[in-house]
Amino acid sequence: MKCLDESNIDCPAESMGIADLGCSSGPNTLLLISDIIDTIDAKCRSLGSSSPEFRLFLNDLFNNDFNDIFASLPAFYNRIREEKGTEFGPCLISGVPGSFYGRLFPRNSLHFVHSSSSLHWLSQVPPGLESNAGTALNKGKIYLSKSSPQCVLEAYSKQFQEDFSLFLRCRSEEIVAGGRMVLSFMGRSSEDPTTEDSCYQWELLALALMTMVYEGLVEEEKVDSFNAPYYAPCPEELKVEVEKEGSFIVERLEAFQVDWDGGMMEEYRTCDTLEGLSRARGRQVAKTIRAVVESMLESHFGTEIMDDLFQRYQEMVGHYLAKSPTKYINLVISLMKRA
Ligand SMILES: C[S@@+](CC[C@H](N)C(=O)[O-])C[C@H]1O[C@@H](n2cnc3c(N)ncnc32)[C@H](O)[C@@H]1O
Repeated sequence: MKCLDESNIDCPAESMGIADLGCSSGPNTLLLISDIIDTIDAKCRSLGSSSPEFRLFLNDLFNNDFNDIFASLPAFYNRIREEKGTEFGPCLISGVPGSFYGRLFPRNSLHFVHSSSSLHWLSQVPPGLESNAGTALNKGKIYLSKSSPQCVLEAYSKQFQEDFSLFLRCRSEEIVAGGRMVLSFMGRSSEDPTTEDSCYQWELLALALMTMVYEGLVEEEKVDSFNAPYYAPCPEELKVEVEKEGSFIVERLEAFQVDWDGGMMEEYRTCDTLEGLSRARGRQVAKTIRAVVESMLESHFGTEIMDDLFQRYQEMVGHYLAKSPTKYINLVISLMKRA
């Protein structure tokens, strides 16, 4: 999906500040930047004007592998020069380490901010998931679940509100009036945060951990005390926070359904039974979830159980997908900074 719609760009500035928040590091990091450059370039051409200078900022947490990104820049700059000519740009790319739940850029320095698959990560595990006596309240679960008490649901929702509002406040300082922000991240379609589209990937991971508790491989207390710093909001919650903070206007807000395994994979072609296909889908989902959450789980449960845990998870996901059409919900919100 394109993050920037050409028809949405007004008169390009002479020098544009553009930031990708939660850029990660890997082959996809610079794809997004290419996409943004191409879209703005096409718009400028259609207006008969030359492209602006691009100041491109790649942000992620301090421990992100920025060196890996920087090592791929010479090839990227060469490609841009070959495709667009030496007069184009310039494109000036910098890495900006730090949390997007805080200020990252100088005042009024950005025209466009993008973030994908990152804002569902909270700044911290919500406080208040233990009783006054220190007993875990979300027993046997690692995220919101049908069995989570109301105070746990409220603690998660409150943490999301505080984080998202802080995010908007910081960006409102950094983005010029009329500047745009496109954010996409995991969400849910209904107000109830415990529906399957909102949390069932975590439910199955908790179930896989609990099978290890029953077999004496993991301490129950360890599962009770782990809670993911994640929250999948519904569209209404986003709108409320944007209105409350007051600096941005919602231009578009859409919810998309996404397959847990990202759709048809090449390896599925070799599956000749439905059971084989379910197993392959389970494997694919477990691989992607493992890539995202393993480091978090390892520091709490230890490295030794990871292979066993994700083998169990893969099987559970395979069985689940064979009988359930549940999909993730991806929310995409486009915002404009008020004058
Ligand atoms: C799943 S990756 C998304 C990568 C890329 N944007 C994409 O769409 O493919 C999520 C990224 O968000 C980053 N992230 C999470 N919380 C963050 C925060 N508070 N500030 C900056 N980056 C954050 C993570 O470090 C991770 O690299």
